[in-house]
Amino acid sequence: MRKKVYFETYGCQMNVHDSEKATYVLSEAGYDLAFEPAEADLVLLNTCMVREKAARKVYARINELKRELSRAANRPGLPIFGVMGCVAQAEADRLFERSKDIKLVVGTQAIPRLPDLVEQLENGFDRAIDVRLSKEAEFLELQAESRQTKYIAYITITEGCNKFCSFCIVPFTRGRERSRPADRIVAEAKALLEQGYCEIHLLGQNVNSYGLSGRYHGNSGPFDADGEITFARLLERVAEESGIPRIKFTTSYPRDFDEEIVKVMDAHENLCEWIHLPAQAGSDRVLRAMRRGYTRREYLDKIEAIKSSKKDISITGDMIVGFPGETAEDFNETMSLVAEVGYDGLYIFKYSPRPRTPAATYTDSIPEEVKTERFLKLQELQDRIQRLRYERYLGRIVEVLVEGASSRSSSDYTGHTRCHKVVNFPIKAEALGKLVKVRIAEVKSHSLYGEVNHPPLEFG
Ligand code: SAH
Ligand code: F3S
Repeated sequence: MRKKVYFETYGCQMNVHDSEKATYVLSEAGYDLAFEPAEADLVLLNTCMVREKAARKVYARINELKRELSRAANRPGLPIFGVMGCVAQAEADRLFERSKDIKLVVGTQAIPRLPDLVEQLENGFDRAIDVRLSKEAEFLELQAESRQTKYIAYITITEGCNKFCSFCIVPFTRGRERSRPADRIVAEAKALLEQGYCEIHLLGQNVNSYGLSGRYHGNSGPFDADGEITFARLLERVAEESGIPRIKFTTSYPRDFDEEIVKVMDAHENLCEWIHLPAQAGSDRVLRAMRRGYTRREYLDKIEAIKSSKKDISITGDMIVGFPGETAEDFNETMSLVAEVGYDGLYIFKYSPRPRTPAATYTDSIPEEVKTERFLKLQELQDRIQRLRYERYLGRIVEVLVEGASSRSSSDYTGHTRCHKVVNFPIKAEALGKLVKVRIAEVKSHSLYGEVNHPPLEFG
């Protein structure tokens, strides 16, 4: 009898992609996907540590699910609870010590071994865990037809990170950076086009260092037919050889970002007009303490290179406020950087210490009220800038991928532009999964509202 697994996925696109990889390996081991926890024999929480108190939230969520499921009718008992993702990797067997309900802990590189872990539990072991990290870990290759995301497909190009920014837990939870051979990436993109996808996202913690750490590329074999290659060259290959209409990539790391990438974007219509280039801070002193490896000037030079593109590339970023030792002056430099760049979107985080990171040993010197005050001030500035940035779309005709029904209105659908902005618009359900032309009729602070030109419905 086949069983059922239910996923709850938090955090970044990499986690979304990992959950679909886990669904794939578990389907080979006799598990189908459940859409409600009440149907599940196995519940897997795929966790994120970017937010504070991540582990505590896992215990709270499991307790909540337990309460809910013990009241659910027609259930023989509770499901097996498992934890995967960054909290699983960082907390490892502490998860068992703190919660007797957790029976399964799956580290970030253990997804291919999930069937063995589940089998251990089925064979009567009380707990199963795999949190090994290896520099040579192989990439799990997901088949195009076994994807869970319907209209946008994710493709891993690198895993892990070697940067060790002083605040960040990712190098500890995702291990050393490994790049996947270009031929495999191109083959995956081609298979996705055949499957009907029109948008792909190339994923990595730091896509720009693709190939730079090629010694540990896993899936042994030549890295590329011509030897090791850079990210710009990979983009060029994917754009030329896959023929996918829309290609996006994230995340770009400023130090490794170069003008060559902009040139390649200019030369290929299917490389979309969006770059996520997190600065994290605007003052050189804080950037140094964060060990980011670039100055404010160098960051702004990269922004200039993007702005000199012949395409209208939208730039988004991440900022941390309240980093240890951040003075009012340092914070003002973050404000002025945000104003100077003119981001189309910005994720703002209040600094919070992460276990094992160098910054966790610095005194977390900024009081919570000050962090909140700075957060709100920066958010307010960004909202004003964003509004102006969005207004430039008013009246423009943009290409949108129709991704789903809008949660706000029953007659509207929602999707993203090539520059990765959300647009809501009225259209017929048959348009789902297609690229359509939309005329922007109204600008909201975090989205656009559009009208569809009839006919033709499809773009191009
Ligand atoms: N390169 C990664 C970044 C991972 S973390 C990527 O692909 O997105 C995502 C964002 O979380 C970072 O850019 C940073 O702004 C924020 N962040 C990371 N650690 C943090 C911490 N200790 N406190 C506050 N924000 C943090
Ligand atoms: Fe984290 Fe810095 Fe890498 S933010 S993911 S250590 S580039």
